Amino acid sequence: MIFDLFFMSSKVFSSAVIGLDAEVIEVEADLGGGELGKFTVVGLPDAAISESRERVRSAIKNSNFYFPKLKVTVNLAPADLRKHGPNYDLPIAVSVLLLTKEISPAEDISKMMFVGELALSGNLRPIIGVLPIAIKAQKEKFKYLFVPEANAKEAKLASGLKVIPVRSIFELAEHLNGRKIISPSVAHEFDFSSPPSAFDMSHVKGQEHVKRAVEIAAAGGHNVLMSGAPGSGKTLIARTLPSILPDLSLGEALEVTKIYSVAGKLPQSAALITSRPFRSPHHTASGVALIGGGAWPKPGEISLAHRGILFLDEFGEFPRAVLENLRQPLEDGVIHVSRAAGNLSFPAKFMLIAAMNPCPCGFLGDKERDCSCSASQILGYKRGVSGPILDRIDMHIEVPRIKFEKLTSESYGETSSEIKARVDAAREVQGKRFKDLPFITNSEMSSDAVRKFCPVDPVSVNLLRGAVDQLHLSARSYFRVLKLARTVADLAGENRILMPHLAEALQYRPKLEY
Ligand SMILES: Nc1ncnc2c1ncn2[C@@H]1O[C@H](COP(=O)(O)OP(=O)(O)OP(=O)(O)O)[C@@H](O)[C@H]1O
Ligand SMILES: [Mg+2]
Repeated sequence: MIFDLFFMSSKVFSSAVIGLDAEVIEVEADLGGGELGKFTVVGLPDAAISESRERVRSAIKNSNFYFPKLKVTVNLAPADLRKHGPNYDLPIAVSVLLLTKEISPAEDISKMMFVGELALSGNLRPIIGVLPIAIKAQKEKFKYLFVPEANAKEAKLASGLKVIPVRSIFELAEHLNGRKIISPSVAHEFDFSSPPSAFDMSHVKGQEHVKRAVEIAAAGGHNVLMSGAPGSGKTLIARTLPSILPDLSLGEALEVTKIYSVAGKLPQSAALITSRPFRSPHHTASGVALIGGGAWPKPGEISLAHRGILFLDEFGEFPRAVLENLRQPLEDGVIHVSRAAGNLSFPAKFMLIAAMNPCPCGFLGDKERDCSCSASQILGYKRGVSGPILDRIDMHIEVPRIKFEKLTSESYGETSSEIKARVDAAREVQGKRFKDLPFITNSEMSSDAVRKFCPVDPVSVNLLRGAVDQLHLSARSYFRVLKLARTVADLAGENRILMPHLAEALQYRPKLEY
């Protein structure tokens, strides 16, 4: 009798986020063959999934649906893929409602994917990682993706997919049974122009050479270390830097949004991140917070800064061991983390902007004020940052204290939008140069690309040779100088790298004292 009323098994599709990508998960439910009233979930579930049994049971009952008295077994396949988080509440509930025929879908359920966390009331709660899931659903040719209403805007970034925003399992059942149809989400228009910033370059008095340097850095995506006395404007300039960076492209915005989505840091109001990230972790941040990782690896600050700025203020105060972690991502633009859950990589192409005082008291090298540090204090302070890290920073800039007259002068320098226009033009040149290559800025060029795009004339070769010998440049520095010179030439609208471009690039290399 009961067997006529119920199906013995059902299957729906869901998705698991692994790193920045998603996999299709089959959620199978089976009825009978065990202790009455038992409800088990198998397939390597973590604690959240085990708890999901209780949520699903309550949500189904509180939505006035029947929960079977026979044993219910739910299997999440493939079993060897570790699953995490509450995303599976919704597909588990749907698979149970299919068994009890509370849901009799009018359309083919194998073309639908379900994700969402349930509240005990049967309402849906937003989940993290919806964008990679939507991209996967689209790739695997699913027709519908059912997501919590709050995630629908984000899911709709995968164009071509029909995203159904779900508020409760009751409404979902009504929809699937063809009684009350929920209309699919519509795609949104996004505005990529930079929002007005509280910081503008015209507010920075004096420091012309620093502004010039950050303009070059912004144009070519180069790393910068600012060093100077307290209160000279290092932090101010770093915070102003985003206002001269080019707007994000749609492709970049999707890359960035995926990272924020998986990290659970996507603001509810913003489905798509449309402005460049600016991350400024404190120097007490742990290695995992900076680099990423954890039992279920999540992107760290360096990935959250992808396509934007990682600002490390008080650079010398970061523990050396923490900074050492930056070596590989600074070189490769990607971070690999291996954990029990598997080997994952997260993109980390960021501009490193670091600021520090030259010594503990901050006045080493100041023309008018004596430094009160002992030689060993200075040495200890500098040892905090390792040579290999400094070698990866293209531009070392001294930021001196500014004179009273400059600070109080009424004259305003160039505004950020004037500088940004030049940066945009230089980026356009780079865009054309790297049309068929996987680079966006000069700083990303491989050695091969440097050879191809940074030819140096014979006179400049001599200058370069002298510099390599005198400044003891490493092979890496040599390539970095050429990339920087390429950006200086691009800003000047020059096809060839000429002597003045090279000379300016060389001037940003660290002096021998490091
Ligand atoms: N060049 C400048 N033009 C205008 N204001 C400035 C300038 N330099 C500093 N200031 C003012 O001084 C404040 C402190 O500057 P900021 O925090 O950038 O100094 P800093 O170099 O980072 O110092 P520290 O080494 O102590 O961190 C700024 O908020 C700003 O109001
Ligand atoms: Mg500061």
